[in-house]
Amino acid sequence: MARTAASFTCTACGAVHKKWAGRCDACGGWNTIVEEAPLSQGGAKALSAKGRSIPLTDLATEEAPPPRARSGIAEFDRVLGGGLVPASAVLVGGDPGIGKSTLLLQATAAFARSGMKVLYVSGEEAAAQVRMRAQRLGLHDAPVALGAETNLRDILTTLDAERPALAVIDSIQTMWADTVEAAPGSVSQVRAAAHELVTFAKRRGVAVILVGHVTKEGQIAGPRVVEHMVDTVLYFEGERGHQFRILRAVKNRFGPADEIGVFEMTGGGLSQVPNPSALFLSERGQPQPGSAVFAGIEGTRPVLTEIQALVAPSTLASPRRTVVGLDSGRVSTILAVLEARCGIPFAGLDVFLNVAGGMRVTEPAADLAVAAALLSAREDAALPADMAVFGEISLSGALRPVGQAENRLKEASKLGFSQAIAPEGTKSDGGEGIRLRKMADLAAFVGEIFGAG
Ligand code: TYD
Ligand code: MG
Repeated sequence: MARTAASFTCTACGAVHKKWAGRCDACGGWNTIVEEAPLSQGGAKALSAKGRSIPLTDLATEEAPPPRARSGIAEFDRVLGGGLVPASAVLVGGDPGIGKSTLLLQATAAFARSGMKVLYVSGEEAAAQVRMRAQRLGLHDAPVALGAETNLRDILTTLDAERPALAVIDSIQTMWADTVEAAPGSVSQVRAAAHELVTFAKRRGVAVILVGHVTKEGQIAGPRVVEHMVDTVLYFEGERGHQFRILRAVKNRFGPADEIGVFEMTGGGLSQVPNPSALFLSERGQPQPGSAVFAGIEGTRPVLTEIQALVAPSTLASPRRTVVGLDSGRVSTILAVLEARCGIPFAGLDVFLNVAGGMRVTEPAADLAVAAALLSAREDAALPADMAVFGEISLSGALRPVGQAENRLKEASKLGFSQAIAPEGTKSDGGEGIRLRKMADLAAFVGEIFGAG
């Protein structure tokens, strides 16, 4: 039988190529393509053989939605869509050292204490290390079954014998299937291990949580290839220098995507932050030029964040545009709209933008707050300290209304803001203690706030 040729897979996006290349055509990543072992011999032939016909049903069902298991860590349960769905597969990705193991050890212990049978398999740390961490976190008395192993065959055998309701695999990159001839952490190993574990979860009714490391460059055979296989993908994010950590649902077959849970890394592990707005705004002092408060929505919850801008004369031929926590493409668009529609140029000026607290904002509704921060920095004039803004900016300079205005305003009012600016057409008239002003376009906003058109 002819040998199947090896294929080349992009570790970032999973695209398969015929030959190696320095850059992946599909996602544009550099140095992400690696060689993969060929598929097992005769695979294609075996599939063309006659199979059995699968049982078909209709869409109607009598079954109630699955009961969800709650850990009691409200921020964690919220991101899962209200608790862990039995027999589901969850991927928790994040940079090394961000706190994935800590979070999952805490969650596993919480599930165990609520009477669930749980198994925690560490492929990265020795059992003694995990026990020491548990001791430090005050979790040593939780009835968690702990194993330190990387051999997938042994792990699956153990899971089959123990039949826990939840198994945590920390991490998928350390797992090693003896059926695949590749090093642990390679795309083929990660994919094979994830596939085995997810299929096992579905077949045996065990929920699995897989931990996956990603680097900023996506260099390590990433959880990206695993994302398609699991029901829920959560990313644990945060800046190294900040103690805030955000658990974000980027895919969820059982709940809203974009939901976030906010935690704080302390000496005693991760503690929940039930009111993130208060936390993200807590470092605001006197009103400063370049600061604007954005009334945003993260998943099902309103969150207020501070957008900070600094604008300074540049010595460079092409001035700097440094953006942290926001989409830099959108920022460029806003700068262009300010210049073209309001006659406010940023040429010759360096622009730095940041979201306070290490938060990342993806909503287009943040446009107006970004523009406000930029203008305030450029004019060196502080915005009123009690003002929150939200709204999308279109290329024409018009302001477009965004969803959930009522919730945004309620949250702002709760945190002591007494005025807000939003686009014309916003479906709200302000609320208790908050005066809402609506504006049709960016030029009107500039005139109103900075007294110049
Ligand atoms: P860890 O959970 O090991 O990260 P990951 O599994 O994502 O690689 O967390 C590592 C960091 O968290 C480490 O730098 C120390 C810090 N940490 C605390 O600050 N407090 C704690 O109670 C614990 C357990 C860890
Ligand atoms: Mg870890």
